[in-house]
Amino acid sequence: MSAKKVRSVEAKPTVEADAPPAMELSLDPGPPPPPTRVFRISRRRSGDRKPHFDDFEIEVEPGDTVLDALLRIRRTQEPSLVVRHSCMHASCGTCGVRINGRESLACDTKVDSLPAKPAKTAKPAQPIKVESLANQRPVADLATDMVDFYARFEAAGLPLVRNADVASGGEPPDGIKAFGRFENCIECGLCLSACPIARTNHDYIGPAALAAAARIVEEPRGRQRGPVLALAAEPDSVWRCRAVLECSVVCPSAVEPALALLTLRRHIAASRARRLLGRKS
Ligand code: SF4
Ligand code: FES
Repeated sequence: MSAKKVRSVEAKPTVEADAPPAMELSLDPGPPPPPTRVFRISRRRSGDRKPHFDDFEIEVEPGDTVLDALLRIRRTQEPSLVVRHSCMHASCGTCGVRINGRESLACDTKVDSLPAKPAKTAKPAQPIKVESLANQRPVADLATDMVDFYARFEAAGLPLVRNADVASGGEPPDGIKAFGRFENCIECGLCLSACPIARTNHDYIGPAALAAAARIVEEPRGRQRGPVLALAAEPDSVWRCRAVLECSVVCPSAVEPALALLTLRRHIAASRARRLLGRKS
């Protein structure tokens, strides 16, 4: 039995010897594109009675903050998006928003720190919800009118910027840390947004102004304590607080306004006791 002969066929060269070399095809797909996240942003134009939400999907780089993402959305997708910011490093207090329902500085919140999709599931990642601060008059999209917030300091006679004149002999007392914490306030309004009392009582002076009052009571250089304590004792002031402590939880500067309120209550009680005993308050 003869074996079937398999004729070997020489492969024909497909490229002429003097032709330019064929372009090399690379199988390396290169680095993967950055992951994307969906931002669900509260939108509002002046005159709108209620906000609505728009979704934007964008690529996020490692280390991006929510403010970086919002500014990229504005640059690449929605030029009309209103976002307020200034310093970009948690100092000026202008970029306050609610992120996934929690008051935060957008420039100080890393996108990576926000929950993506649950581990070991194929579910799409949850959108990152961004809204303007509560308990303040909305202007547009993520910006609120801070005038009312600042007015609470002014109504209380509490300057936002300390008078440079220091009373003679007004050296910082020992234990400067006691009031240094209140001095750290960057007037961002996060505490007012998180306060459940401010939600229902618009006359409540609010945690930030009361922290400023506590600062003066603790460290009264050049100021009279009496009028500040009188203001703190008014009906819509420290006694309205129900110690929910949300103000201290959201404060990005460790001011601890809730502690300031307790400090004021202690001073008011001591002042009343002194008056009852016929001593100078
Ligand atoms: S007390 Fe804290 S949360 Fe409130 S305005 Fe000042 S820095 Fe912001
Ligand atoms: S931009 Fe200044 S605190 Fe965020």
